[in-house]
Amino acid sequence: MDFTLTEEQEMVRQAARDFAQTELLPGVIERDEKQEFPADAIRKMGELGFMGMMVDPKYGGSGLDTLSYVLVMEELSKVDASASVVVSVNNSLVCWGLETYGTEAQKEKYLTRLATGEIIGAFCLSEPEAGSDATSQKTTALDKGDHYVLNGTKNWITNGGSADVYLVIAQTYPEKGHKGINALIVEKGMKGFEIGPKEQKMGIRGSDTHSLNFNDVIVPKENRIGEDGFGFKFAMKTLAGGRIGIAAQALGIAAGAYELAKSYSRQRKAFGTEIANHQAIAFKLADMHTQIEAARMLVYKSALDKDSGGDYDLSGAMAKLYASEVAMNTTVEAVQVHGGNGYVKEYHVERLMRDAKITQIYEGTSEIQRIVISRSILKD
Ligand code: CAA
Repeated sequence: MDFTLTEEQEMVRQAARDFAQTELLPGVIERDEKQEFPADAIRKMGELGFMGMMVDPKYGGSGLDTLSYVLVMEELSKVDASASVVVSVNNSLVCWGLETYGTEAQKEKYLTRLATGEIIGAFCLSEPEAGSDATSQKTTALDKGDHYVLNGTKNWITNGGSADVYLVIAQTYPEKGHKGINALIVEKGMKGFEIGPKEQKMGIRGSDTHSLNFNDVIVPKENRIGEDGFGFKFAMKTLAGGRIGIAAQALGIAAGAYELAKSYSRQRKAFGTEIANHQAIAFKLADMHTQIEAARMLVYKSALDKDSGGDYDLSGAMAKLYASEVAMNTTVEAVQVHGGNGYVKEYHVERLMRDAKITQIYEGTSEIQRIVISRSILKD
């Protein structure tokens, strides 16, 4: 598999790297501390074309490939995973879902503004009792002829307070199980739609996570995505691509922590020499580098699988599973390399360690990725 980047991909990567250094790095510690949403940065990323990277330019997108998107996710995540998760959800789950399965009218009305970052989107699948077991949706969307009546609660919704457009998965025909589920486009401000309090999180604290309540919300039929009953497949298809974005986020967190650890180990002296000269530290760097390269291959491969029109359920799940484990291991080791300094905020690695953990949980836990992988390899 050829991972040589084109000139355009190199330019996109450099643009993301520059943006992360000049716009995300200043203030990242404070935003984490105050749980402050990076609204300014998101607006600027919209102007740069990062919010609808793979969307056709006729709908306001950048028309780039998945590998370019992954490169951007990796660079942003080296510095600020709270900002990069907003980019990931908007690109992979919301824009991709609407462009692939939405009607022309839905694309005109929503996608054009989502792809430019004028507005942002949220993807609402998880519920208090249906996180991993996504078929057990309790939120209902009752069919009332020309509209649905939506009732229920969604949990842990990324962009929950800041989004304008919400793709909500809900049960219409409980007797049909996963075949009775629909995906509806809900707008902020619709009567009966309430945003719950912001979650107090361990990591990705700058991102905006809420529960959402729907009390008799009237959603027009034209806001349903796909055929009647397509909602669960919509969610699964969309999440399969989303996992590539989160895998790239995990890769970026790992690479960011590694770069910090490497540079620190060349400056910090102990026992008369830079700590990089001690094997105890050098071997840690060797392991980090090796694991990150292996994760990168898996992540890029999943992006190329998607771009070539092949199946990416398996490669995306493997990339997410492995890259998120590498993110966790690498960030823990990066804190160790920093010693006491690793435990304080100004050195950044403690934040990356807290941020890494979520990549093993959202868009399917590591256990869910293992279900997807084992089913795929055992099916024939
Ligand atoms: N593509 C297309 N169809 C798929 C699919 C895929 N990737 N995966 C499953 N399906 C289909 C199956 O073919 C099946 O359809 P048929 O009956 O017609 O064959 C149907 O969906 C049900 O599939 P399963 O029987 O496999 O369902 P299951 O209950 O055994 O569980 C699961 C499948 C993989 C465990 C799934 O429930 C799952 O992915 N759970 C995790 C959900 C998740 O990722 N949640 C994260 C929330 S979003 C988020 O975190 C966003 C954020 O804020 C950052």
